[in-house]
Amino acid sequence: MSTKDRELRERAYESVEKYKETVNKDPYRLHYHIMPPVGLLNDPNGFIHWNGRYHLFYQWMPFKTGHGAKFWGHVSTEDFINWREEEIALTPSEWYEKNGCYSGSAIEHDGKMYIFYTGNVKDENGNRETYQCLGISEDGVNVEKKGPVVELPEGYTPHFRDPKVWKQDDQFYMVVGAQTLDKKGAVALFSSDNLTAWSYEGDLAGGGKGPLKDFGYMFECPDLFSLGEKDMLIISPQGLKPDGMKYRNVYQSGYVVGYFDPKGKSYDHGEFEELDRGFDFYAPQTTEDSKGRRLMFAWMSVPDQNEQDHPTVEYQWLHNMTLPRELKMVGDKLYQLPVEELEGLRIGEALSHRVTLRNEVRELEGVNGRAVELRVNDISLVEGWFEIAIHDAARIVYSNGVFTLERKSYVDGTVENRQCILEKLDSLTIYIDTSSVEVFVNGGEEVFTARYYPAASQRSITFGASKECSFSVEKWDLGKRGDGSAAS
Ligand code: FRU
Repeated sequence: MSTKDRELRERAYESVEKYKETVNKDPYRLHYHIMPPVGLLNDPNGFIHWNGRYHLFYQWMPFKTGHGAKFWGHVSTEDFINWREEEIALTPSEWYEKNGCYSGSAIEHDGKMYIFYTGNVKDENGNRETYQCLGISEDGVNVEKKGPVVELPEGYTPHFRDPKVWKQDDQFYMVVGAQTLDKKGAVALFSSDNLTAWSYEGDLAGGGKGPLKDFGYMFECPDLFSLGEKDMLIISPQGLKPDGMKYRNVYQSGYVVGYFDPKGKSYDHGEFEELDRGFDFYAPQTTEDSKGRRLMFAWMSVPDQNEQDHPTVEYQWLHNMTLPRELKMVGDKLYQLPVEELEGLRIGEALSHRVTLRNEVRELEGVNGRAVELRVNDISLVEGWFEIAIHDAARIVYSNGVFTLERKSYVDGTVENRQCILEKLDSLTIYIDTSSVEVFVNGGEEVFTARYYPAASQRSITFGASKECSFSVEKWDLGKRGDGSAAS
């Protein structure tokens, strides 16, 4: 380890110690989501199931609640409930990464963990250089840096980053998020036999061609994988304009469905669909675990979207991950559900109600709390609207084939919403944490994710219907992640 590396680690751990008390005083500190110990967290990186543990790395700025020369933080778990804080994986210590060890991925090879990430370099005038770098870990914790393995190919600006690597038919492939010289978002493809020598294979998607030909100026964080019979490509495009209910966040994250042809090095695909309909979701990354499940984490925020207005900034920390989701294909539609391990967060037995509401809004006995899971099933609504209001700061409404999530803005307190068309509402699974809500609609057909900031004393949840609506509700209190102890 270089002296610079050692110094940066020491400074980061000092920052953790210095602000520990302040961070822990925040009433909005989440109970069961992954957060930075101090400073800013963004993209999930290097998500991998390796030697029986799930490793999740993350973009981390330990010195402030802003962006900058990122580190890779690291946590690991066997069960998605009890997490171990691991040593810092990467610090921006070398010339080829001095302005940040940016996003990337991990893959197992010969029993070792191979980590690919972007070395971000900026000169005094703000000009960028980008290097796709390799690090190898034998124990899953200490990473030996091998330096750049991919240089910027011709035809792209230096907005070229976030390598995701996978193996298929004894070949390794890498997709990289890119911007062409004429400012089109693109996904660049590389191939390799040995993970160190990489050949550039051209654009895989976008870049002024195909269904994503005119689709923003930059694609970040690509991820290509098979799911069922199809090959999915996830991207986070920048530069899309709002279009009715779609694309209302500053930047988007979504997928296309298609077929990857490894021989032709091409990808035939359909139209872009957003992954999450809520306010705060970006840069998702998936991995396949040893049970064959395709699992995904995302950053529960969006770059440049009022980041400094979050009240947690005052407590020296910012942002968190979504819950881990399992992905499944149903026809051409991607379904997302919280991983079943999360049932391990439940404390005690479910409280259940069978309810019929008639033109009324009311609480249901015992259905409240700051960190809870709600399962609302068998929803039958013939006409009018159905709503669930959470802590007087977020509200779910279903009416006339439109599903809405509202929240009180953390910027100015006004009510803002996100929506999608939904033919019929059957069920809801809702994870409420002290300052986040994740709503899985109809078994994962749609998902809405948001940060929100209710008064810290707020625990109430109300259910309402303008005409008649009947449903069943199950509610669990959820414990804190880590040691699994009870939430307050
Ligand atoms: C996405 C992103 C990536 C980049 C990283 C830097 O949020 O901008 O493209 O690698 O964050 O932290």
